[in-house]
This record gives sequence, C-alpha cells and structure tokens, in this order.
Amino acid sequence: MYESRTTSKPNSLTVTPNPSMAIPALLRIVSIFVFLFIPVSCSVPFIVLHGFSDQCSNRGVSKFTQLLSNWSGSKAYCIEIGDGTWDSWFMPLLEQTQIVCDKVKKIEQLSDGYNIVGLSQGNLIGRGVVEFCDGGPPVKNFVSLAGPHAGIASVPFCGSGLLCIIADSLIKLEVYSEYVQDHLAPSNYIKIPTDIPAYLKGCKFLPKLNNELPNNRNATYKERFSSLQNLVLIMFEQDKVLVPRETSWFGYYPDGSFSEVLPAQQTALYVEDWIGLKTLEDAGKVKYISVPGRHLEISKSDMMKYIVPYLESASRNEMIGDLSSYQWFSSI
Ligand SMILES: *[C@@H]1O[C@H](CO)[C@@H](O)[C@H](O)[C@H]1NC(C)=O
Ligand SMILES: *[C@@H]1O[C@H](CO)[C@@H](O)[C@H](O)[C@H]1NC(C)=O
Repeated sequence: MYESRTTSKPNSLTVTPNPSMAIPALLRIVSIFVFLFIPVSCSVPFIVLHGFSDQCSNRGVSKFTQLLSNWSGSKAYCIEIGDGTWDSWFMPLLEQTQIVCDKVKKIEQLSDGYNIVGLSQGNLIGRGVVEFCDGGPPVKNFVSLAGPHAGIASVPFCGSGLLCIIADSLIKLEVYSEYVQDHLAPSNYIKIPTDIPAYLKGCKFLPKLNNELPNNRNATYKERFSSLQNLVLIMFEQDKVLVPRETSWFGYYPDGSFSEVLPAQQTALYVEDWIGLKTLEDAGKVKYISVPGRHLEISKSDMMKYIVPYLESASRNEMIGDLSSYQWFSSI
C-alpha cells in the first residue's frame, strides 16, 4: 500500500456549518473563499488486480502500482487473492471475485468510491466486482490493460514449469467440464467459437459476466457496469497471449467460426447491449486505446498518457525518465 503524496482528505474541508448560529457575515464570506481557493485534492484511491501467474509482491506488479500511485498522487491497493500466483491459476474466478468483493468492502478508504486498474485476467475479476459485488463501494473509472473481456479462443502459451504442466493436463481434459472449470481459472473465460453451446452450458464465469445466457440476463449487472464514469480499454498491438488480441476491446470471433474478428460494435453483446457497453460508449465513456508492445508491455509514457489521467491527481509533474517499454509482469 502506498500513501498518496497529497494527504489532505476532502473530508477535512467539510467544517460542519451550523446555520442556526449567528456567524458574522464576514466570516461566512471568508469561509466561502476558503472553500473556493483551497485546492481540493479529490484524490480517489485505486486498486490493482494482477494477471494470472503473478502476484502483488512480484517486482513488476509492485513497481507498476507504486509508479501509478506516485504519478497520480492517489493511494493504491494491490489486492491479493489467496496466496497469489497459485490461486490465480487454480481458484475459480467466481471465488476470486468474491474474495476481492469482500476485501474492497473492508477497506474503509475505498468506501466513497475507487478506480480499478486491471491487468489481463485481473480485468475479469474487476468487472466481476463491478457487476456482482452486492453492497460494494462504487467503482468510478476502470482502466483495463489487455483484458480478455470477450474471452480467449486458445490456451495461452505457458511454458514448461510445474504450473504449466498441471494446467496443460487439466486443459487436455474437457475444458468445459465441471472439473476443469472448478480447478483452472483461465478455463472460466475460454470461449471456443466453434463450440458455443458447450461454452454457454459449461463455462462458469464469462457467460455470466457478459450476460450471454439467453434466459438469464441480469439487468443489475448492466446497470452497475454502465454506471462507470470511464472505461479505458488498452490493447497491445503485439499481444500474442490473448487470442484474439481484440478481446481487449470486446472484439471477438463470430459464433461458429474462426474466420475474422468482429469489432465490439458488431457483436451481439454490444448491439443488444447485454452489459451496457453500448450505453457507455453512447455516453462517450469508452476509450479504445491501442499501444505498441507485447502482452502488458506498457511504456512509462503510455502509462502517463492513458492510465494516470483516470486515477485523478492534484499534481503530476514528476519526470518520468526513460520512456521505453518495460516487461513489468511475469503474468500472462
Ligand atoms: C514513489 O515515491 C516514493 C516516495 O517519494 C519513493 O520512495 C519511491 O521510490 C517511488 N517509487 C517509484 C517506483 O518510483
Ligand atoms: C441479479 O443480480 C443481483 C445482484 O447480484 C441479484 O441480487 C439478483 O437476485 C439477480 N437477479 C436474478 C433474476 O437473478
């Protein structure tokens, strides 16, 4: 957790006026001036939700979080789920979402509202919190980096570590089987375009999150998601982890084929406005951003340009130094 540099809370300015008391007019004028001219630092805290195979204590996530906090002047909380890396792989996303929901409700500093910065899989958890978290504090801005919002059509490249071996053997079982769905987080958002009926029937997270279930659309999810102030969708031009990379913008293959990727605006999710994406876009609240770089490889200058402004700040005049791309995360 990182302290914001501007420590004045908005609350500290609300000196309770007592109208019944005869405050001399001059004093009242003075107090009005005080209200007008003290720069109110309305710094909204934000949370960071990391990707899978990653954790808050890893250097990449922690530095990323700290930089954003330093630059925006807003307090940051990297919310860990379970033990980090292991649970990010093997705990079902509904459960992960519930854990974050419980945590944000307990953090008093978030109670007036907060922003979310999501990394890869963390975006689905973040959106789950926006849509499903009953009684949670309001989410204002949602900045998504490489979020698999419309699903992924193939299992992300993993490698040969122990986690990958376990994951691979799970996936080789049936991806929409109850067992895999309950034991491998990424299976909760694998959407095989040529197997939509099995996806809708067996996939335990994304169909619910995207309100895709024909007889089970929940207007509350839409209402909550469309109440965001800004939705910033950052796609990485050389992203080879997300297939297709346009899923970062809610673009996806049409049902039944791998032929071409439809832009969000041509998908049923958008046209029929299942979750309020169209509502948000019509209100000018969705920013589609494309940046150079591979999966999550964002440069400091792009962080400054596309993330920091949404984390609100009183001052951001710090030098940002080297502007090249960084491999921040071990996550995929
Ligand atoms: C953020 O600011 C703090 C306090 O000024 C400093 O100690 C820290 O190194 C900064 N973090 C980064 C990643 O620049
Ligand atoms: C829709 O979701 C809300 C919030 O989680 C829940 O309270 C409500 O019962 C759900 N409605 C239906 C019809 O499932």
